[in-house]
Amino acid sequence: MKESKLRAVVIGAGRIANDAHIPALKALAGRVELTAICSRRAENAKAMAKTHGFSHWYTDCEKMFREQRIDLACICTPNQSHGPLSKLALECGAHVICEKPLSICAAEAEALYQCANDHHRSLVACQNMRYDPSIVLARNLVERGELGDIYYATFTYLRRRGIPDWGGFHRKADNGGGCMCDLGVHQLDALLWILGNPRFESVTGFAATHIGNRKSPSKDDNKPSSPDGKVPHRFHPSEMDVEEFAAGSIVLENGCRIDFKTSWAVNLPDERNIRLAGTRAGLCLPEDTVFSEYAGHQADIHFPTTAEARLWNSGHRDLILDVVDHVQFGCPLPIKPEETLNVTRILDAFYRSAVEHREIRANEIQ
Ligand SMILES: NC(=O)c1ccc[n+]([C@@H]2O[C@H](COP(=O)([O-])OP(=O)(O)OC[C@H]3O[C@@H](n4cnc5c(N)ncnc54)[C@H](O)[C@@H]3O)[C@@H](O)[C@H]2O)c1
Repeated sequence: MKESKLRAVVIGAGRIANDAHIPALKALAGRVELTAICSRRAENAKAMAKTHGFSHWYTDCEKMFREQRIDLACICTPNQSHGPLSKLALECGAHVICEKPLSICAAEAEALYQCANDHHRSLVACQNMRYDPSIVLARNLVERGELGDIYYATFTYLRRRGIPDWGGFHRKADNGGGCMCDLGVHQLDALLWILGNPRFESVTGFAATHIGNRKSPSKDDNKPSSPDGKVPHRFHPSEMDVEEFAAGSIVLENGCRIDFKTSWAVNLPDERNIRLAGTRAGLCLPEDTVFSEYAGHQADIHFPTTAEARLWNSGHRDLILDVVDHVQFGCPLPIKPEETLNVTRILDAFYRSAVEHREIRANEIQ
């Protein structure tokens, strides 16, 4: 057990750092010291340090880890840097909370958890959606066996138009993939957690981009980003080389089948839900309604308890608190390595399937 304050750093000075990680760390002021912030652009790092009270700011992570003793690193940078930065932080002795997705490559995720083990440090993927009250309700109901065995499930997260137009979300070099590893990963992780982290047998994936790569007169098309990140990024359709729509199926080892679809852009209405069909009852989220039978009749049971208003960043607050409790008091890890490895293996299989136009079986993924 560690009684002194945890020395925390934040890597990346963008939206999620500013709106979720830093407020969560500041809320733990008695237990966490904001040691340093590192971002590629000096003016951002400097401004964030001043605004939020970090003692130091850097543009070079290696230098920061050399100069500071760090207990906890929050990695809030674009996806493709998650692996290298997590590795660096772990090797330098920090526990790591890394934004989702930790990786879309199973081999990389395996190596990262091995690195965490070797250095006796914890690595946690920031799957904040697990703290959503609907997801917690579903997990409790499934764990208690109230729905029976789940034999079919779906997850859907469709944005009719909602391609992130800041940072490098739409570029493979920065983000690795598109909506599947941005939105889909949240629901995939939550659903597998609800189901008790079952292993998968096969994945069939489909990915498409037809809207975001079209030149749009309403966008400022004349300012592509600079690859070194020194010029603030503007969305540029010609750079869009990741999927804006993803769909597919996952067959689990226990026989359950999951169908999914997710988008940043699609000519369909916005939709966001998870559905579970069990042998005793079904469940629809976010309506929080169980479809069951009572006294020989079909009966719908609605759970009003989850309607409480929550700030969008509450999940980050709760997750970061759990990780700090884990580091300081040895409380259980909120997101377990085997769970994130399972998610990563499915993402890896999804992307391979989408490229190779065939079903990918679990034994093909390392
Ligand atoms: N969990 C969630 O609900 C949630 C929500 C939004 C974003 N995210 C994730 O957070 C990450 C960042 O998203 P964002 O919206 O904050 O992006 P952003 O573009 O606003 O911020 C990224 C920041 O990282 C900095 N950066 C890039 N490469 C760096 C490097 N090598 N070293 C140091 N700094 C570097 C950039 O300069 C920028 O300040 C993404 O992985 C995204 O998927 C998660």
